[in-house]
Amino acid sequence: MSHEPSQPEQGPLSLVCAAGRVAWIGQGGPPEQAGGQRLDVAGRCVIPGFVDSHTHLVFAGDRLGEFTARLAGRPYEAGGIATTVAATRAAARPTLENTVRGLAAEALDGGTTTLEIKSGYGLTVDHERRLLEVAATVEDAELTFLGAHVVPAEFAADPDGYVALVCGSMMEACAPLAAWCDVFCERGAFDAEQSRAVLEAGRRRGLGLRVHANQLGHGPGVQLGVELGAAAVDHCTFLDDDDVTALAASSTVATLLPTVELSTDSRPAPARRLLDAGVDVALASDCNPGSSYTTSMALVIALACQRYRLTPAEAVRAATLGGARALGRDDVGHLGLGAAADLVVLDAPDPGYLAYRPGLAQVYAVVRRGRVVRRPSARVPAS
Ligand code: NIG
Ligand code: FE
Repeated sequence: MSHEPSQPEQGPLSLVCAAGRVAWIGQGGPPEQAGGQRLDVAGRCVIPGFVDSHTHLVFAGDRLGEFTARLAGRPYEAGGIATTVAATRAAARPTLENTVRGLAAEALDGGTTTLEIKSGYGLTVDHERRLLEVAATVEDAELTFLGAHVVPAEFAADPDGYVALVCGSMMEACAPLAAWCDVFCERGAFDAEQSRAVLEAGRRRGLGLRVHANQLGHGPGVQLGVELGAAAVDHCTFLDDDDVTALAASSTVATLLPTVELSTDSRPAPARRLLDAGVDVALASDCNPGSSYTTSMALVIALACQRYRLTPAEAVRAATLGGARALGRDDVGHLGLGAAADLVVLDAPDPGYLAYRPGLAQVYAVVRRGRVVRRPSARVPAS
């Protein structure tokens, strides 16, 4: 198998997986193995499985009407989240389980082998807890409590009362099910003081921190995330020089979400400035019914190359190793010895084809924890 862009003079690489981990990688034939499964990828390129570090997969209903209105010029606003909250609260648990299972399978088909999933469309103690329970049905997902997504209608007159609920009984009920605490720090959602309260409450409960920050305009979210040692600040569409400097001096990952900027017709995040300043950058799908209804990391990579001017190698790295860093994981997002044997085999000679031939299903096979979980489909030969 070739892992890097094709190196014909060096011959193909072989990779051996054992107990779900990368056990050997090298030129020429692999060492003799007793038994086991063999996958000959015939010179196709192999990259680490994608690590999608930002999704909202547990929801009901859709927002096609809102999307269509955007096509006619209406701006995206945080208020649309309320539509999905109403549909999600009304949905039966099996409906939510089917949706999350379907989207997780779709993501795996597209090469995503590690997924983060947020709550955030329940916004009561019981509903948020239920969403995390449903998300937990996805094997090995990283779960994030996002009770502070927006202030629900019933607290419109008392937003601080809602923040108190999130920091108190909602956090108590949800923290045991989650690894992470997130907050939407934005105009129309939570201000700096409210966001700080939520993040500090999450930290007291032992959760790692992440922030939806600087999506719709410049705001305090990135600086707050850096100050509190968040693992990641996500969106980062509107940054000033101080934000870039603060990120560069921190270990907080800047997670960029180009499909959100596509769906909401927003300007692109200043990705090159971040990379050139030495900031750790991740790419994720933010799959949700409002601002980015896609699980395709291939599309994310294509947009990152085209709109952010990332090289394909930088984009693939951000969608794999970058996502892993954003989740504090060193076992995924790369193919070093001992890493999880999570691989995507592309039906292409080079990862650059993800951007070069956008919009096509170029995933030939997916291996997760050493098992071939998506096999090459038999193509009907052209007559
Ligand atoms: O990441 N920004 C906040 N949350 C989501 C949008 C959710 C929605 O519109 O339903 C996001 O873009
Ligand atoms: Fe999001």
